[in-house]
Formats: sequence, C-alpha cells, structure tokens
Amino acid sequence: VIEYSDDLGRLSPADLDGFFQGWAAPPTPGQHLKLLKDSYAFLVAIDIREERVVGFVSAVSDGVLSAYIPLLEVRPEYRGQGIGRELMSRMLEKLKGLYMIDLSCDEHLVDFYERLGFQPARAMLLRDYRWREGK
Ligand SMILES: CC(C)(COP(=O)(O)OP(=O)(O)OC[C@H]1O[C@@H](n2cnc3c(N)ncnc32)[C@H](O)[C@@H]1OP(=O)(O)O)[C@@H](O)C(=O)NCCC(=O)NCCS
Repeated sequence: VIEYSDDLGRLSPADLDGFFQGWAAPPTPGQHLKLLKDSYAFLVAIDIREERVVGFVSAVSDGVLSAYIPLLEVRPEYRGQGIGRELMSRMLEKLKGLYMIDLSCDEHLVDFYERLGFQPARAMLLRDYRWREGK
C-alpha cells in the first residue's frame, strides 16, 4: 500500500538514501531533506508495509503566478505502478490556482507529462557544473 505525505515530521535523511539515481554528483540525503523542506510544496510516496520512502516530487514557486517542478523520482523497483503519475497529480492539486506550472524533461517523458495536461515547449537551461553538488 502506497501512502502520499507532505509531513516533514515523518522524514529523516536516512529515508531518502538512494535517490538521484544516475546523477554524477547526487545531493546527500541531508541536502535532499533540506531541499524538500525549503520547497514551496513537496510530496513523498511511502510504502507503508516496508516503511520506505519510494518516490518524491518537489515544487518551487512565487506563490502568486508561477511554479516550477524541478524534481520527480520513483525508486526503480517501484516504477510502472502509477506512483509517478499520482505524485504529479497530487502536486498539481497543491499548485491549483497558479497560472504557470513549468518543468523540463527528456523526450521520452513527453507523453507522460502530456497525459497530465502539460504541453511541449522550448526550454532554455543554464547549468553551472561548479555547483552541481549543491550548496
Ligand atoms: C519518470 C518517473 C518518475 C515515472 O514514475 P513511474 O511511477 O514509473 O510512472 P507511472 O507508473 O506513474 O507511469 C505513468 C505512465 O507514464 C509512462 N512512463 C513512465 N515513465 C516512463 C519513461 N521513463 N518512459 C516512457 N514512459 C514512461 C508509463 O508507461 C505509464 O503509462 P501507462 O499509464 O500507460 O501505464 C520514473 O520513471 C523516474 O523516477 N525516472 C527517473 C527520474 C526522472 O526521469 N524523473 C523525471 C524528471 S523530469
């Protein structure tokens, strides 16, 4: 059974170990917890039986017009069960009332996001690799 929560009290850094799969310089679990805490909104998916955080999504926002969704991830062994879609749907519910909700994604996820109501657009990205390990 998967439960969705935005309760920080239920989270410790150890719960977040192993996310950011494939990242060259992943944030530490402590940084991960901080970025969730400092986000405008976040949600985690918890496997209740295993007492394990299996996915998360975060959003930053000005709270008036716009939000950006920088991170969404489901642990590999839990993918393909609708958890990513549910995390996004619930996040969109939290962001309701905001005019602009943006994110960038790889080509293979265009369908995934289109089904959630997003439309493709051109994005411009700036990355400063000196800071890729986070602050
Ligand atoms: C993208 C991600 C969060 C999706 O999570 P998930 O729990 O597997 O997604 P869901 O099970 O809710 O999938 C919903 C639909 O999208 C499709 N889909 C999901 N991930 C996909 C992928 N990588 N490529 C193609 N289609 C995908 C599924 O086939 C599913 O379609 P269906 O409803 O017809 O069965 C997950 O693959 C992940 O963590 N990837 C690595 C991190 C990442 O890329 N994050 C997104 C950053 S923009």
